[in-house]
This record gives sequence, C-alpha cells and structure tokens, in this order.
Amino acid sequence: MDEEYDVIVLGTGLKECILSGLLSVDGLKVLHMDKNDYYGGESTSLNLNQLWKRLRGDEQPPEYLGSSREYNVDMIPKFMMANGTLVRVLIHANVTKYLNFKAVDGSFVYNKKKIYKVPATDVEALKSPLMGLLEKRRARKFFLFVQDFDESNPKTHAGMNMDTTTGRELIAKYELDDDTIDFIGHALALHTNDSYLDQPALDFVKRVKLYAESLARFQSGSPYIYPMYGLGELPQAFARLSAVYGGTYMLNKPQCKVEFDENGKAIGVTSEGETAKGKKIVCDPSYLPDKVQQIGKVARAICIMSHPIPDTNESHSAQVIIPQKQLGRKSDMYLFCCSYAHNVAPKGKYIAFVLTEAETDNPETELKPGVDLLGKVDEIFYETYHRFVPTNDGSADNCFISTSYDATTHFESTVMDVLSMYTNITGKVLDLSVDLSAASAGDEQ
Ligand SMILES: *[C@@H]1O[C@H](CO)[C@@H](O)[C@H](O)[C@H]1NC(C)=O
Ligand SMILES: *[C@@H]1O[C@H](CO)[C@@H](O)[C@H](O)[C@H]1NC(C)=O
Ligand SMILES: *[C@@H]1O[C@H](CO)[C@@H](O)[C@H](O)[C@H]1NC(C)=O
Repeated sequence: MDEEYDVIVLGTGLKECILSGLLSVDGLKVLHMDKNDYYGGESTSLNLNQLWKRLRGDEQPPEYLGSSREYNVDMIPKFMMANGTLVRVLIHANVTKYLNFKAVDGSFVYNKKKIYKVPATDVEALKSPLMGLLEKRRARKFFLFVQDFDESNPKTHAGMNMDTTTGRELIAKYELDDDTIDFIGHALALHTNDSYLDQPALDFVKRVKLYAESLARFQSGSPYIYPMYGLGELPQAFARLSAVYGGTYMLNKPQCKVEFDENGKAIGVTSEGETAKGKKIVCDPSYLPDKVQQIGKVARAICIMSHPIPDTNESHSAQVIIPQKQLGRKSDMYLFCCSYAHNVAPKGKYIAFVLTEAETDNPETELKPGVDLLGKVDEIFYETYHRFVPTNDGSADNCFISTSYDATTHFESTVMDVLSMYTNITGKVLDLSVDLSAASAGDEQ
C-alpha cells in the first residue's frame, strides 16, 4: 500500500458511507475500511439469524417467524423526509438509481394518551380531532401562514422580521395552545427539545413547510419515504458509487489503528502490519475512542409483531412521536413500524421499534409507555447503547469523527452531522440545489 490516499474512511455506517461517496464524487482518492466483515457498522441491517445471535446468543429463532433471510431489521431505523436534506444528498450523489423507495403510510403524534394523525395543512387542521374547535381555527391560520411563506418575499412574513422574531413570539401571534405547540414543534418541525422557541423563527417555519411539502409529494399519509429492503441498501449504494469514482473498499480489516506524526496529525491507518497513508481520517467513534466522549445513551425495544401499531389506520409503515411533555420526560419517545410491504419482514410480519434517549438504567420500565401502544408483540428485545460525540473538530489532527446515532426515527439530525463533517473535511458547503423531481422515478411505485 504505497500510494497516499486523500481520505481514509473507517467504518461503513450510514454516515461514513455517505461521506466516502460524496468525497469520491468530488474527485478525492478514498480508501474505505471496516473492521467488521459486513457493511453498516452500528447502522447495519440484520436478518433473523443475525438478530437472534446478537440479542439472544446461541438460541435459534422460532420457526413460526418464517425465513431468516426475508428479514432486514435496521439497527438504526429512520425514515427520510421526501423533500428533505438526505434525499437532496442522494440526488446530488446520483445514488437514487441504486435504490427503490416507497412512501411511508402514516405519521402520528401522541397526545393526552391517544395517537393522532399529524395534521400539516389548513384542511387537515380543521378535520383533526387533536384540537378543539377554536384551536383548529387558530392552527389553520398558522398553517396558511406557513403555506404562503416565501423567504425571499417579506410580504408573506406577516409583518415579522424572521431573523429576530423567535419561535415563541411567532406562536404567540397565532395564540396556539401548549398541546398544539408540542405537536407542531416535535412532530412537524422535528425538534427534539424546546430550545427552538427561543431561536429565530425562520428555521422553524422552514421545517414546518418542508413537512407540508413532503407530505404533498406522494399523496400518502406521511411526508416520509423508506427504501425497499431497508436502510442497509444505503451504505451499499454509496459503496457502489464510490467504486465507480475509483474508491477502494475493504471489509474485515482487523484493528485499523490510526497512525499519527510527532505533531499529533493523523498520517495513515495500519491493519495487519500494513500501513496505508492518508491525509485525512473519517471514522465512527469506535475507531478513535480517545477522541470521543460519552454524552448519553439510547434505550430501545425491538419488536416483531403480526399486526400494525393499533390506532394507526392499519399503516404498514408509520412513525409515532411522543413529545417529551406528554410523558413528563426530558426527551421524546419514538415509535417506528415497517412491514413486509417494504420487504423488511416475511408476509404478515411487522418490525417495530420504541426508542428514546435513556434517562434511567432501566429500559424496560422507561420504554413501557411506548411499548404499551404496540399491543401484543410476538417477540421483544431490549437494548441500550452509548452515544458518543467527538472532542476534536479535525482542524488540529485531521481526524473527522461522526456522532453516534440518536434515538430519532427520522434522518434530520443524522444528515446535519454528515453535512457539518463534509464542510470540515473539504472546507466547503455541499451544494444541495438539486432538482427534487429527479428522485421520483424510483419513489412512485
Ligand atoms: C436541543 O436541540 C438542538 C437542535 O434542535 C440541539 O442543538 C441542542 O443541543 C439540544 N439541546 C439539548 C439540551 O438537548
Ligand atoms: C386511512 O388510510 C386510508 C388509505 O389507506 C385513507 O384513505 C384514509 O384517509 C386514512 N384515514 C385517516 C383518518 O387517516
Ligand atoms: C466542524 O468544525 C466546527 C468548527 O471547528 C465545529 O464547531 C463542529 O463541531 C465541527 N463539526 C463536526 C461534525 O465535527
């Protein structure tokens, strides 16, 4: 391995694969290695045998669950917004041709002990049982404002300066009540906490608008899409892309030790006694444990069921967001469900997840309010994993480390981390002004 690479990427998780694909397209010489003999790292997808091996040890999966290879269970389950940033990245990188998407059936929010469809337009607001009569009218006015909003046209800003007006002030203007703010902030704008209320309202309005526009895109019950056969298809699509642009992939490379010069700058990676030279290292937290710190952990329940989540209008695929306040918690809880309709399980089977940022050491008790919403489950596994963030920013040591995946069941925070890493690695902002309709061929089916 005498040649020098521009970038050596360690780990084939979603974030690392997206980055190696984008960097390859930029013309950089990329070497991508993984200590595992499979794609995906923490964000891999498992068949039934692999799932059992990971969570039940030597036991065999019961026969009634059907064929192992018909399961594609994402370890990091996330839906993408149809017009969202990840879809723009996929179009920019031209990987949509390797992927086949299908719309997600439903998007729901939990409010006062019940599950409701998330209303996102003036018409839906008026129909929604989520709000009382007067509140419906106020919400309708708010949604009309968002629908008409055009950042470049101040006439649509309802007399507000969008850079100084806060989210809280905007909401006060429409006199929305706390429950409405809760679902708009967490289930439409996809904020994970309420700090947005004290930030300029522009970003908040754009997020609500993105939700409504994504919802309109495929005329389904949600703004989300998800690949057939699960997210495991994504790392592989980017690996193929990287290969087309000359990138090299190597799986099953033990150790993958990052080498540094006397100034603490990364200069390469050693595996099995051979060192590959590289100017920059991109990796997940497991490859550079000295440069990350633990910031929390995710508790999750992974379930196999024979029915959709109750009260979700028989949706084969659905997200339910339980805003923190509804359960008196500090973090939101998320329900994710997908089925054989997306080819992630055999006919008649559904895969469901309940996830949250852990606030205790007892996932079973903590996740109970979410698990109770699933009804009877065939099998359930509880798991907790630690979340790490880098303690460096790459400028001094040339090491660019991703943040561990959070508990959200959508891609918004994941893709923001990828874009920030891309900017720190390349010194430029990724141009995402793409033609969104380019993704439509694979989407509609
Ligand atoms: C709240 O969410 C924002 C992003 O929406 C994030 O930057 C911030 O760190 C979060 N704060 C807490 C306390 O989790
Ligand atoms: C339930 O789903 C059907 C399509 O499967 C849709 O036509 C209907 O509007 C949905 N109902 C609600 C309340 O979302
Ligand atoms: C990128 O660099 C900035 C500035 O040094 C830093 O604040 C940020 O955390 C870095 N982003 C990532 C994903 O490391």
